[in-house]
Amino acid sequence: MFNAEAIRTQFPILKTQLGKYPLIYFDNGATSQKPQVVIDAITHYYTSQNANIHRGVHHLSQLATELYENARTCIQTYLGARHSHEIIFTSGTTGGINLVAHSFGKLLKPGDEILITEMEHHSNIVPWQMLAEERGLVLRYIPITPRGELDLSTLDTLLNERTKLVSVAHISNSLGTINPIQQLISKAHAKGARVLIDAAQSLQHVAVNVQQLDCDFMVFSGHKVFGPTGTGILYGKEELLNAMPPYQGGGDMIKTVSMTQTVYNDLPHKFEAGTPNISGGIVLGTAIEWLSKLDIAAIAAYEQDLLDYATHKLMEIDGAEIYGTAAHKSSILSFLVKDTHPYDVGTLLNQQGIAVRTGHHCAQPVMDYFKIPGTIRASFCFYNTKTEVDFFIDALKRAVHMLRS
Ligand code: ALA
Repeated sequence: MFNAEAIRTQFPILKTQLGKYPLIYFDNGATSQKPQVVIDAITHYYTSQNANIHRGVHHLSQLATELYENARTCIQTYLGARHSHEIIFTSGTTGGINLVAHSFGKLLKPGDEILITEMEHHSNIVPWQMLAEERGLVLRYIPITPRGELDLSTLDTLLNERTKLVSVAHISNSLGTINPIQQLISKAHAKGARVLIDAAQSLQHVAVNVQQLDCDFMVFSGHKVFGPTGTGILYGKEELLNAMPPYQGGGDMIKTVSMTQTVYNDLPHKFEAGTPNISGGIVLGTAIEWLSKLDIAAIAAYEQDLLDYATHKLMEIDGAEIYGTAAHKSSILSFLVKDTHPYDVGTLLNQQGIAVRTGHHCAQPVMDYFKIPGTIRASFCFYNTKTEVDFFIDALKRAVHMLRS
């Protein structure tokens, strides 16, 4: 049985008092809090390990290089990738998707198609819209159903021999839907299309193995998996990354440069131009190592129970409506309460110490589908508890009462 109370003690920020209220942090979909081991690793890096990497013969440079490359290997192991050079450090999920759009995108020709879904985060829509405009591609969307699931009845028409890439969220950030990515990958591969999995909302909740999935790319953000902001990972299959041109030019991504010609470096450096976020990469490794010691199956079961409990309690509130009622859901509860505006509810919850996100959650097509301006989103992590959910529901009832009277 997963012990949330024990794990909470590792997160100093969870002891925060906001006036007379204890902080209840239900905005984990936006970013996770950090365990002490991660906070300490940042200080330790700048206290005794800081230097530039891949460049110096001196002790600190070699130490920092070793730590950075060890972090890459740790992340490779966690994702189940075949090679450490298939792990590219990025600035986050958005950075990873933009890298693929710019680089893999250069291999595409006018008329080629990219298939995404109506439930994507803007970061998995806009780069493809920009690429489609630039290169004359066709962008198609898998529609969603009223429960917030993908309507896969359309897949056989949408997916065809012109489809070169399917890019899909593993878990929707606005609805919590867990998409059937294994099925999508198999179907896409049968048509010769590559698949990018946006794992920004999944790695912290469920086990993922890129070789078992056989996805071609996977991206995620470090800050959502207990690591620092400004970090992220692009996983890509070796043969694909080798076939793709570099994204940015600069130091580290070259073997030789002359006035007339540049020979690019091997993977992974080919995609890591310039001095990277060294401390961020190393500490992301610390975060992933910490995460890898937890029982992810027990976490998934705990969070499912917490979600079911919160869903049940929320439905007791008169006029509450949940958006995203998929059969397979992660611990995201997106909802509205009749006769109240989400921003007002969010503000009144904040006044009672509760952090939720309100608005369109960077998923405006989802809001358009449901014909709503936005939702209130409570997104749970394994350090949240039923006691916090009880407090949240009471606070929500008070907020709704105030707004209606
Ligand atoms: N993508 C993050 C969220 O869903 C910021 O809140």
